[in-house]
Amino acid sequence: MSIQASENRGQWGSKFGFIMAAAGSAVGLGNIWRFPYITGQNGGGAFVFVYILCVLLVGLPLLYNETALGRLTGKNTVGAFKDTGANKFWQITAGFLALSVSFFVLSYYGVIAGWTIGYIISEFTDFIKDFETFRSNALYVIPFFALFMVITVYIVQAGVSGGIEKASKILMPILFILIVLVIFRSITLPGAMEGVKYYLTPDFSKINGNTILAALGQAFFSLSIGWGIMITYGSYLPKSNNIISSGLWVGSMDTLVALLGGLMIFPAVFAFGKDPAGGTTLVFQVLPEIFNAMPAGGNIVGALFFLLLCIAALTSSISMIEVPASYLIDEKKWSRKKAAWIIGILAFLIGIPSALSGGASRFFTDMSINFFGSSKTGFLDIMDALFGTLFIVIVCLMTALYVGWVLKPQKVSEEIGLGSPFYHKKLVFGISPSQMWIFFIKFICPIVILLVLLATIGVIKADV
Ligand code: PFF
Repeated sequence: MSIQASENRGQWGSKFGFIMAAAGSAVGLGNIWRFPYITGQNGGGAFVFVYILCVLLVGLPLLYNETALGRLTGKNTVGAFKDTGANKFWQITAGFLALSVSFFVLSYYGVIAGWTIGYIISEFTDFIKDFETFRSNALYVIPFFALFMVITVYIVQAGVSGGIEKASKILMPILFILIVLVIFRSITLPGAMEGVKYYLTPDFSKINGNTILAALGQAFFSLSIGWGIMITYGSYLPKSNNIISSGLWVGSMDTLVALLGGLMIFPAVFAFGKDPAGGTTLVFQVLPEIFNAMPAGGNIVGALFFLLLCIAALTSSISMIEVPASYLIDEKKWSRKKAAWIIGILAFLIGIPSALSGGASRFFTDMSINFFGSSKTGFLDIMDALFGTLFIVIVCLMTALYVGWVLKPQKVSEEIGLGSPFYHKKLVFGISPSQMWIFFIKFICPIVILLVLLATIGVIKADV
């Protein structure tokens, strides 16, 4: 299989560029908005500990798997399965499902990202009085959503190394600088140390089945595993690139930003006497209040914070468009420009009900489904339960089963090890990393994922 890059496909210009783009996909609203609130709901430090274990034991093996599958075939997420001889069943349950996860999550991820634009502006103009009023006003949320989508498409249509790589190389380092700035402000608030303690001291009595499942789900979401992203980005990777070290960089950066996300938020939450278990509203409802209450410079810190959140969301949404776009470019021979614009416009149209589900339309706000025992209300939450939770887990399971048991993992394993001097060396207890990876992809990953899936659909009792 050749990885000749056609004019439309493109290739990463440098290892740094690939790492920045892949880390840019991984680092997003999941790290800065989702990770802190889930940590807060699951007991603080203990959750952080379990999360790190999940990333190491399940996340990394799957990250390597997707990247190598992409580079091995040089194809999009559907093409990668087709090219390795997968029949229609695997093509649909692993390839097409991943593609639809990316597309449908994009439709509501863009809505949330649009809110961040509103908050950046509001830090200077104060036009947002409270979150609920803002979110229920279609005249605000739709234009911000549209603006965010246009920026995303604009970057994607400029191509792999010219658009995505260039943007990520600039945006990711800015993100790091801004994070450090906000952490500095947060931990120097009076009373902030209580929050640091809550966040960093694990209380192991708080760990139970639910904590583990919540941590696993968060790891899939955050590392961008199960969305076809790493397959697609891996397909633009030259053979000379060391997948082991790139994957380690991506995984550790993603985890680092999540950990720093908590360090920004918890000290401030405690300093201002807020509830760390406040849930999904933690960032949008609590933080602006905290910025407002700062004696000086609150609006600058606040604007920086939401700018940071918007940048993180942008480098993620870019990758969500890229998955279906690369499929249309490869398989349907569309031009990159046409693919990016059409997907962007469609995702925007499909996202409108999500945008209106914050109160602007009673129909979309009040609609609810019974999601395996728990009720999900509002179009956005329903989409998140289906595409942002259930289908990701299914894609991960099918991909691990396909590579581990149908394709035979040796082929992918060889691809992972290209260029790595240690991969086939017997390092610990006479076992090489390659043998370890094969064991993980065949047994550990599918078994753990199956447990998560059974818990999600309620066969195993767990409240995630
Ligand atoms: N990893 C992103 C986050 O944590 O926000 C979410 C995500 C973005 C997943 C893009 C997948 C993806 F393609």
